[in-house]
Amino acid sequence: MMTHHESAVGHVTGTARYSDEIPETHGTLSAWPVQAPHAHARLLGIDISAAAKMPGVHAVLTATDIPGANQTGPIIPDEPLLPDAEISYFGQAIAWVLADSESQARQAAALVTAQYEPLPAVLTYDAAEAAQSYHLKPSVIERGDPVAALAAAAHSAKGRLDVGGQDHFYLETHSCRAEFDADGQLILHASTQHPTETQHIVAHVLNLPAHRVTCRCIRMGGGFGGKETQANGFAAICAIGAQKTGRPVRLKLHRSQDMQLTGKRHPFRADYDVGFDADGRIEAAIIDLVADAGWSVDLSPPVLMRAMVHVDNAYFLPNVRVQGRMAKTNLPSNTAFRGFGGPQGMIVAEEMIAAIAATLNLPADVVRERNFYRGANDAPRNQTHYGQAVIDNELPELWAALKDSADFSTRRAAIESFNAAHPHQKRGLAITPVKFGISFNKTIYNQAGALVQVYHDGSIQLNHGGTEMGQGLHSKMIVVASRVLGVNPERIRVMVTSTEKVPNTSATAASSGSDLNGHAVADACNTLLSRLRPVAAAALQVHPEHVEFAADGAQVRGEPERRLSFEKLIHLAYDARISLSAAGYYFTPEIHWDPIRLTGRPFYYYAFGAAVAEVEVCGHTGIHQLRRVDLLHDVGNSLHELIDRGQIEGGFVQGMGWLTSEELCTNAQGRLLTDAPSTYKIPSLGEVPTDFRVQLYARRQPATTATIFGSKGVGEPPFMLALSVREALRDAVSAFAPIERRRFVDLAAPATPEAIWRAVTRVRPDLAET
Ligand code: MTE
Ligand code: MOS
Repeated sequence: MMTHHESAVGHVTGTARYSDEIPETHGTLSAWPVQAPHAHARLLGIDISAAAKMPGVHAVLTATDIPGANQTGPIIPDEPLLPDAEISYFGQAIAWVLADSESQARQAAALVTAQYEPLPAVLTYDAAEAAQSYHLKPSVIERGDPVAALAAAAHSAKGRLDVGGQDHFYLETHSCRAEFDADGQLILHASTQHPTETQHIVAHVLNLPAHRVTCRCIRMGGGFGGKETQANGFAAICAIGAQKTGRPVRLKLHRSQDMQLTGKRHPFRADYDVGFDADGRIEAAIIDLVADAGWSVDLSPPVLMRAMVHVDNAYFLPNVRVQGRMAKTNLPSNTAFRGFGGPQGMIVAEEMIAAIAATLNLPADVVRERNFYRGANDAPRNQTHYGQAVIDNELPELWAALKDSADFSTRRAAIESFNAAHPHQKRGLAITPVKFGISFNKTIYNQAGALVQVYHDGSIQLNHGGTEMGQGLHSKMIVVASRVLGVNPERIRVMVTSTEKVPNTSATAASSGSDLNGHAVADACNTLLSRLRPVAAAALQVHPEHVEFAADGAQVRGEPERRLSFEKLIHLAYDARISLSAAGYYFTPEIHWDPIRLTGRPFYYYAFGAAVAEVEVCGHTGIHQLRRVDLLHDVGNSLHELIDRGQIEGGFVQGMGWLTSEELCTNAQGRLLTDAPSTYKIPSLGEVPTDFRVQLYARRQPATTATIFGSKGVGEPPFMLALSVREALRDAVSAFAPIERRRFVDLAAPATPEAIWRAVTRVRPDLAET
């Protein structure tokens, strides 16, 4: 059994290499960007002559140096690699200087001049609305008759929620190396979640066929969605530079450049109008979502779609209309980020629940329970608004188990008495659910490949199409291969992800890395076993059906003492001229999606979880403490418990950062002010809850879907467990009002100390603004 992450020793000793740590080939050039000082402008001309003469400078790349298409848009072609006529966001790179050293490139970049004609900039989704500045068309998902049901509902609540964005803040910023090998093959080492797309976009920009470009990724120091598409352009710059100069080129963004140049989690504005009965059961919801997509489309359509199909979170919405639009703004192009729009949809569901609870003066947890999706036999209350049944739904059971293990009701009572005794400190408690759909919304992406090679000596190279970004995918693939082959994990080495080993892969994203690649690895291993089985049977003198592969070799089922070591087996197979390498392939069955009607079964299954958070808020400062957190999360049959726990803890803490401390501020010129850790506050060890309890849920009924060894994707769902912190804060803030005056607490997202303090002043009668 594997006990730790496959790179754990490398991570803690500093020997695990990242793309920019490959020893430099002699003559490698470093790249530095020239950034535009306008959010929106016509680009009238660039003068590189002074920079080009600087010592050490080999090239200054502008749009005119691009041999192929000046285009990196992953979904639609609206994204020039380098601007030739128009600046679309503040800090956009108009040129890249390549020099012998980074400091030479940096000094020369300061000498590049350009003429601009400033244009009015659209910097927020509200401004985009005023200017009617949108990408593509709005999308609508509708079920039932929401207008009539809303009018007929006994109660209703209406509101608006602005949800902030989030910087990925991976520890390793974007980086790439590009070099032509002796035979003219372009070799990229890129920090990318999607080597295949990087390969294709670079090929397109250089006007080369894809087979001339190899993209490798050793590992990433975090991706979190920020390297799903955004790595492509940086790789393309290196590639153009390598072609033009004949030298290897390296590019590694400094933190502030990374924050200024790359897209983030989409900020969202949500307007909701929800109708419900006297018990708090939702009867109708009309929801309007606007995502700030930034200057280009990038992945915004699927991000918005995931938000739209997650506005229910875990609740049945019988009559519903969800509309989504993408604001086109003069900001970096917002992109994938853990949850991929899901968090921005699910926060709306929890906002509506809070509004219902406040309107009816009911405990929020009771309102949640009354609105849960039901089991398989309880149609239509198990049907989502996009027509998929909530299969294998054990959320009510999971919820009850967590309420119990977290002592929810006892602690609720204790908090009431604490609050009664403390006028300036209030505690809050909340429990929130997560239901998250697993699979890429876009059906075709749900495929994967693998290549497993066994060598003479019995050692095994494992290649799969996924990338490692810290989430432990490589470790899980070792678990899968060793379980299928019945060998010790120590035999298996996972190779650097490469488009030469496994072609036409999807991004490692949508939490589906181990689902997809795991099955592909198992497929390759099963092919090998089907070839090894007759060899083993002959050697063991049994019928092939009686051979089993276990305990690092082949043995007779029921008679484990009659066995062959794996080495012996491989020797025999080689001598018998049996191929010892096999490719594997997998595509997710059963899923489908109608892109016009926006219905279908986009998700192979759902991941479920729930969280209880307890906070204490200081009424003088708005500062809070997270006193205790209990998480119960459904990972199916875990492939690797330690890694799954790490994902649950890490996802929760990252979600908490999004909801409580990470605030992106842009000035009136469209310049990002919070472009460093000094001004952009990610959670650190000090904010991790002092009492942090994480449990993996043990299902009552086996799941009906055939995931790899019964496991479930865990990369993103726990992020949304952090919604419990926001609701606990809301609960604490409401306690500053006298009981008879308690009403809906309007809380900004992120709920920074300032935002909490403002919310407190709004509810305290002695401080309330008149
Ligand atoms: N965990 C770490 N340590 N680093 C990361 O970059 N990315 C997350 C999640 N967990 C990430 C992470 C995101 S956005 C996704 S989609 C999944 O991991 C991707 O990997 P998986 O599909 O193998 O779970
Ligand atoms: Mo994750 S946002 O799907 O890379």
